Formats: sequence, C-alpha cells, structure tokens
Amino acid sequence: MHVSNLLLPLLTLSVTTPAAVSALHINPHHKKALSTSSNGQLQAKRDVPSTGHKIKAKRLVKKKKRATCQVKFNATSIATEATTSATSTDSTVLPTLTNNENWANGTATATATSTSAWDDSTSSASASTSASASSTSSASNSQSTSSWYKVDEWSGDSFFDNVNFWEWNDPTHGTVDYLNAGDAWNSGLISINSNKRAVMAVDTTQVVSGGRKSIRVHGNRIFTGGLIIMDAVHMPTGCGTWPAWWSNGPNWPLGGEIDIFEGVNDFSQNQVSLHTGDGCTMPSDMNNGQVGQLTTGSYDSYNCASYATSNQGCGVRDEVTQNAYGEPFNAIGGGVYATRWSKAGITVWFFPRTNIPSDITNDSPEPSGWGTPMAHFPSDNCSPYQFFYDHFNIFDTTLCGDWAGADGVWNYAGYAGQSESCAAQTGYSTCADYVLNQGSAFAEAYWEVSYVKYFNSTTEV
Ligand SMILES: *[C@@H]1O[C@H](CO)[C@@H](O)[C@H](O)[C@H]1NC(C)=O
Ligand SMILES: *[C@@H]1O[C@H](CO)[C@@H](O)[C@H](O)[C@H]1NC(C)=O
Ligand SMILES: *[C@@H]1O[C@H](CO)[C@@H](O)[C@H](O)[C@H]1NC(C)=O
Repeated sequence: MHVSNLLLPLLTLSVTTPAAVSALHINPHHKKALSTSSNGQLQAKRDVPSTGHKIKAKRLVKKKKRATCQVKFNATSIATEATTSATSTDSTVLPTLTNNENWANGTATATATSTSAWDDSTSSASASTSASASSTSSASNSQSTSSWYKVDEWSGDSFFDNVNFWEWNDPTHGTVDYLNAGDAWNSGLISINSNKRAVMAVDTTQVVSGGRKSIRVHGNRIFTGGLIIMDAVHMPTGCGTWPAWWSNGPNWPLGGEIDIFEGVNDFSQNQVSLHTGDGCTMPSDMNNGQVGQLTTGSYDSYNCASYATSNQGCGVRDEVTQNAYGEPFNAIGGGVYATRWSKAGITVWFFPRTNIPSDITNDSPEPSGWGTPMAHFPSDNCSPYQFFYDHFNIFDTTLCGDWAGADGVWNYAGYAGQSESCAAQTGYSTCADYVLNQGSAFAEAYWEVSYVKYFNSTTEV
C-alpha cells in the first residue's frame, strides 16, 4: 500500500524504519508459509527496509511505508510490535509542482492474453484449503468453459473467520487505533449486515484523542498466483481517509506488493501499484495494454523496484473509468475488482455494479473475455513468480498518515479527481486535527464487502 508515482507537490520524506518485528506469535499456518519461502527464517518484517536505513522519498504522495508485516499476526498475539518508532521528519515541500502527467487517452487497445490456465504440474492438487477456508471446493461449474475453479471464499457470516486483525500501530503513521478481533466486534466496527455483507467501519465518536478506532485485517490464505475477485458495494470515502485492498508477500519488498484498490481523501480515481525487489521492470509499451496509465514521478516509472526508486514503484492510475473509486464508486453500489496473477503478468480489472460479467457472478470466470484491464503489468521483464510470492490480502482504512495526511496532499486539489483540497473543504489545516475532532464526518468511511473469492486454474496461466 504504497503510493507510487503521484505527482503532486513534492516533498522530501525521510523515514527511519524500525527494527524488524520479532517475538510475535505467528499463526501456524502462516509460519508454514514462511518457512518454505524465506529461508526458514521466521521473522515478521515490516514493509520497509529492515536495515533501518533512511528512505528519501520525494513526491508528496509518497507513502513512507505501509509496513505490512508480512506475517499475519494471530489476533491473540502479544503486542510486542516494534511500534512505529519511525520518525518522520518530512517535509520540505518543493515548489515545483506541475501536474504534467501523462493524461493519456484510455482507449488503448487491449492485449488481452487469451489463454489462461496454470501450467504448473502440481496444480491439479487444488490448493489445499487453508485452515479457515470456507471454500466450496474445486468443482467448477459444469457448463462453463472456464479453466478457473474456486478454491476459497470469504463471505457471509464466516467472512471474518478468514482474517487476522492487525492490532498494532499503523505502519504508515495514520491517526488510527486498530482494533483486535474482540474489540472490533464489541465496538460494532465490524459486523455482518442484514445483506450478509462484511462491514468494516471507523469510529464516529465526535472527539477522540490519540487515534480514531479503525480496522485492518490480513487474510489467512497464502497464495502465489491465481485469480482473486473482490466485490464491494461501499468503500471508505472522505477527507482524511486512506483505504486500501491489496496484497503483500514476505521479506518485503522481495515477496512483492500488489496494491489493487487504493487512494486517499476525495479521490475518485483508483491507482494500482506494484512494489518489488530489484530487477522488475515494465516494457515501454505497457500503456497500450491498459485503461489506466503509468503515473510519472521522480523516478523511472517503469522500474517497480522499491529501493531503486525510493519506493515509488510502478503505479497505474485510471483517469478514464468514472466510478472505480470514492464517492462515485459508492453511488453505483460499487462493483468488482478482479486481479489475475499469472504467467502473463499481474492484471487488474474493475467492473461497475451494472456491468459485472456473468461468468463472474456464475463463479466461472473467464478473464480472456473481459476486455482491456484497468492495469496490466506484463511479465516480459518481471517474472510474476520470482518477484511475487506467498501473498495475503489486506483490507484497511487508515486515516491521515503518510499519504492522506501529508501536508502537500491535505492542501492540494486538482489531482485524481479531487477538485477542492481537504483543507478548504473541512476548514482544518491538518488532517489529524480533523480526524480527532470531527467523528461524525466519518460515517461514510466504511467497507461493505460482499465477498472475496480465490480461483485457480486447471491448465496454464
Ligand atoms: C490464533 O492462534 C490460535 C492458536 O494457534 C488459534 O487457536 C486461534 O484460532 C488463532 N486466532 C486467530 C484469530 O487466528
Ligand atoms: C480519446 O480517443 C478517442 C478515440 O480516438 C477520441 O475520440 C477522444 O476524443 C480521445 N479523448 C481524449 C481525451 O483525447
Ligand atoms: C493456485 O495453485 C497454486 C499451485 O498449487 C498455488 O501455489 C496458488 O497459491 C494457488 N492460488 C490460489 C489463489 O489459491
């Protein structure tokens, strides 16, 4: 959940990262995943370089670090997290600021990859169900030609059985107090509503101190490749919010990060981003295959490597689709984000509520028929199985923090569909003051999710 390539007023950020987290109870399931993928070393690293070196980020929107804690922490863990000791000494707002991004026309031709299936010879063993999976198994719809079969589903009353609650400080320095599972239920900030959808909200008590209660959950399922489909009817919106639906692997940035659905404040455009270890780059014609376009920033936008680009990564913002994020998304009852991680690369589609392909509603998805994706990161110079592995999905709503709360962002407008700055809209000169004193303004800062479904393929992808 790093923002990449946002071009706004620039700032120079400098972060001292905390030491790697250790001494946490790690969910045994996750432990297993880690031991097979990270030299057997069980360590919970943060989404930041663990060496404690300084990161300089220029670009205002640079999120200093959404530490993601590659390890899922069991909700019963002892909170010994090396809390955010990160010192942020941000802030030189550079005078230069022009939004000279590539406002490319989104009518690019699709380079849809038509075959989709796994060639992995082990694939017939349908991914063994994770401990908490409430999955229907691999039987695919008999009348479908899709090679994709569902291996897991989070929905209905058992939705939250599939996740762990992040109850520690926000790695991205938000003005939030993340709740553990018990407190989340007891406070009513999470619930399964009458439509059997999972709600994850923010506390609306008018005045709070320290941080406003919120939710961040990490999925139990560990996956490498596949098709992940998420249906939401509502997402958190409004000044001060920074919500995201994303995934992350271990040993950040080596296991990679895929930011699927993310933005801040009153944005109405979505940004999809990748963050990787050294060596993952995008081809020069990448924009031809997607509706969104690579954003530009202080570093080479085609280089997804985190360290080489001060964590800018490869970001694709969709300026064409009118209802993929924010209030416009909620106004139409949301829609579906589908992320395919395959040999072709990493590809994200968005379908508004009224235009969801029937093969998705039938659980027999066929991406080859979905048309031009919102974002497509080809595998040409970035193996999706080298730079990405052992991911878990995350929903969170942070408030303010490194992105939404950055001075240059709070005071800025004219970007990503936001026409008036939050400072002007709210009358507050800082995001944190607004968040701590205007709880009633956060009534729309909730996720309402119908489902998350995981699919795999019998053939090649
Ligand atoms: C945490 O781990 C314990 C012990 O393995 C397990 O019984 C419990 O269900 C886990 N809780 C969550 C929320 O994962
Ligand atoms: C985008 O391209 C289409 C088709 O060529 C054209 O009709 C439209 O005016 C273009 N839009 C912009 C904003 O350039
Ligand atoms: C699909 O199957 C492969 C091979 O078993 C596995 O590594 C991967 O995690 C699975 N993907 C999902 C989404 O379950």
